[in-house]
Amino acid sequence: MEDHLPQRVRVERRSVSEEESRRANGPDWDRYADEYQATHGGFLGDTGFVWGPEGLTEDDAGVLGDVDGRDVLEVGSGAGQCSRWVRVHGGRSYGIDLSARQLQHSKRIDEESGIAVPSVRGTATALPYAGASFDVVFCSFGAMQFIADLEAAVGEVARVLRPGGRFAFSVTHPTRWSFPDDPSEAGLTATSSYWDRTPYVEVDDDSGHVSYVEHHRTLGDWIDVLARHDFRIVALVEPEWPEGHDRVWGGWSGVRGRLTPGTALFAADLAS
Ligand SMILES: C[S@@+](CC[C@H](N)C(=O)[O-])C[C@H]1O[C@@H](n2cnc3c(N)ncnc32)[C@H](O)[C@@H]1O
Repeated sequence: MEDHLPQRVRVERRSVSEEESRRANGPDWDRYADEYQATHGGFLGDTGFVWGPEGLTEDDAGVLGDVDGRDVLEVGSGAGQCSRWVRVHGGRSYGIDLSARQLQHSKRIDEESGIAVPSVRGTATALPYAGASFDVVFCSFGAMQFIADLEAAVGEVARVLRPGGRFAFSVTHPTRWSFPDDPSEAGLTATSSYWDRTPYVEVDDDSGHVSYVEHHRTLGDWIDVLARHDFRIVALVEPEWPEGHDRVWGGWSGVRGRLTPGTALFAADLAS
């Protein structure tokens, strides 16, 4: 959220279609990618796998299961850090992302690290892969909260997974949407309803166009959409803020993280 706010945008809550979300978020990530990688690339690690601002790693979480020899898709893969970790651990990982500039960073790190993640530009709501192609699909703060048409996105994940395959994704913890996106004490007082699903929108003051969108779902909404697509939840991880971790990332900070969860990490298995 606020982490990437360019000049002259105003924040609103209003409904936004899937097409408008995509039209806003692709160019927004293109504009923001250089700063994002410069600011957070070191924390993420070129071959690291971090599930969120708390710094929970897949080495510690272990929600993907053993990826060795598995076909793995990362949706909203950004610069491919997590997918490179999968490659290091023996998996055949692939990336898809809406932003061309994020994918250029992925290519740059492929070359610098010598560990390449084949990646394409596309959207989570129309995955360009045949059915039953992957054993694991995951998103680390990737596409899931940027999508209006969540039914389509989860349906696409179910389609490309093999029976019994694992889907794991991290998103802003649903309870966070009640609070201002502020890392200080001001972000500890609830100001809007947890049940208000109206998307968070940034509007360019000059053009009036939507320039960035995030979609909020409650915990119950996530469980319902997974169940509707034949997934069985096997884990819901709410990472605690680690002792001595003083990094601020947008609205995530120790001040808030010690009191309220900032990230929800779901893992679910498709029916066999
Ligand atoms: C916060 S980054 C996460 C990437 C990576 N896991 C990381 O930690 O840097 C979110 C990514 O989701 C991508 N994204 C947003 N909407 C998307 C969509 N509809 N389909 C695919 N990717 C999308 C953005 O372009 C961006 O690279």
